[in-house]
Amino acid sequence: MSCVTLRQPHASGLGDAVLCAESVIHDEPFAVLLADDLLRTEGRGCLEQLLRVYADKGGAVLALAEVASAVTERYGIIAGTRTGDDLWSIERLVEKPPPGEAPSRLGVIGRYVLQPDIFEHLKRIPPGAGGELQLTDAIASQISSQAVHGLVYRGRRYDCGDKLGYLCANVEYALEHPELGDDFRAYLAHLNVRKRRA
Ligand code: G1P
Repeated sequence: MSCVTLRQPHASGLGDAVLCAESVIHDEPFAVLLADDLLRTEGRGCLEQLLRVYADKGGAVLALAEVASAVTERYGIIAGTRTGDDLWSIERLVEKPPPGEAPSRLGVIGRYVLQPDIFEHLKRIPPGAGGELQLTDAIASQISSQAVHGLVYRGRRYDCGDKLGYLCANVEYALEHPELGDDFRAYLAHLNVRKRRA
């Protein structure tokens, strides 16, 4: 396996980061994995699930999860038609809509299978939410020419872009760690006793 590292010179948004990869991807479909969305499944991994949908239907495939209505402004939110148990045909995407303006509670989580024409859309669209070039806006612009599917991910998810999500991931991974788990559990129990006494 070979690994190529590219640096995004300015923090100008996820769309800009993906555009930086154009020179290595050329004309191939590709996957985007956002490292701050930590996903855990017992069975097939999320990307593998997306790739199975892609093999069957082609187009672009995004992982989705139901999010609380209070936090829609942290996510790209979709509107669409349900086409299977966990499968959606996406008709509209809005980046970080405030609660009350979101078209649904289905948010895009950080796994995407994309077609290379996304680069053309990224070059054409104006900056979006937060003044940044948004991948969500480029996918929205692609919808008229490309089928965009959404697969509702079933499994554990830690949004490590959120401080609490990051803490939860650390605690849960530490508790399950084969070498450190028992000692960490004992430490947490000790902490709890101390707090109750205080
Ligand atoms: C990015 C995307 C957003 C997506 C989210 C998933 O936002 O822009 O559409 O829902 O990842 O974590 P960010 O977390 O970079 O603000």
